[in-house]
Amino acid sequence: MMRFDIITVLPELLESPLGHSIMQRAKDRGLLEVHLHQLRDYAEGKHRQVDDYQFGGGAGMIMKPEPIAACIEKLKSERDYDAIIYVTPDGQRLDQAICNRMSMLQNVIILCGHYKGVDERIRQRYITQELSIGDYVLSGGELAAAIIVDAVGRLIPGVLNDETSALFDSFQDDLLAPPVYTRPAEWEGMPVPEVLLSGHERNIDEWRHEQSLLRTRERRPDLLEKYEKG
Ligand code: ADE
Repeated sequence: MMRFDIITVLPELLESPLGHSIMQRAKDRGLLEVHLHQLRDYAEGKHRQVDDYQFGGGAGMIMKPEPIAACIEKLKSERDYDAIIYVTPDGQRLDQAICNRMSMLQNVIILCGHYKGVDERIRQRYITQELSIGDYVLSGGELAAAIIVDAVGRLIPGVLNDETSALFDSFQDDLLAPPVYTRPAEWEGMPVPEVLLSGHERNIDEWRHEQSLLRTRERRPDLLEKYEKG
C-alpha cells in the first residue's frame, strides 16, 4: 500500500483527477491512499494567512513557512516518510524512471506551491526531492501533484488489471510505444497492418519493436540516444 499526503491551499483541485478510473480503483482495492491537507487549517490568526510579502521587494506573494512546517511536523509525528516532495518548475524534470522508483516507496508527502513559491527555508529544512513536470509554469502545484500520483499510482503492483501492461508503455525502455489498432480490420479504406492479423507472435513482436524504433527516431531522437547507450 502506498500513501500520499498532499499539502495544498486548493484540495478541491485534486479531488476529481484522483477520484476516477484507475486511481479510484487503486483506492478501492486498498493499494493507494491519498490524503489531502488544507494548508489554511494550519495557519494562525483570524485570517488564517498562508502567504506574505517578499523580503527585498518584488511582485507576488510567498508562502509563509510556519503553516507548512506545522502541517509537515504533524504528519511526521504520525508516521515515517520516505520522501517529502516539493513540486516546482525549478525541480528535477519528472520522467518514467523517477516514477518507477517512487512506486516502491510507502509514505510520500507532496507540497504544492502557490503564488511565487514557498520560503526557501522550508525547502532547506524539510524537502527531500524537488520535481517539475515540464518546462512551463502552472498557476499552482496541484495539477503537477495529480500527475505524479497518477503516473506513480498506476505502477503499484496490482493496480493495473493486466500486470504486465505497464512494461510495454512508452518510455518503459526509453522507446515510444508502437501504433495500435482495433476492429474493424479495414476502416474507410485503411487496412490494419497485415502482420497484426497473422497470429504469428514472433513476427508481431518484431514488427512492434521496429515501429517503436521508427517512431522514437522520428519524434524523439533524444530518447533513442538513451536507448542505444542502454
Ligand atoms: N508549479 C508550477 N509549475 C510547475 C511545474 N511545471 N512543475 C511542477 N510544479 C509546478
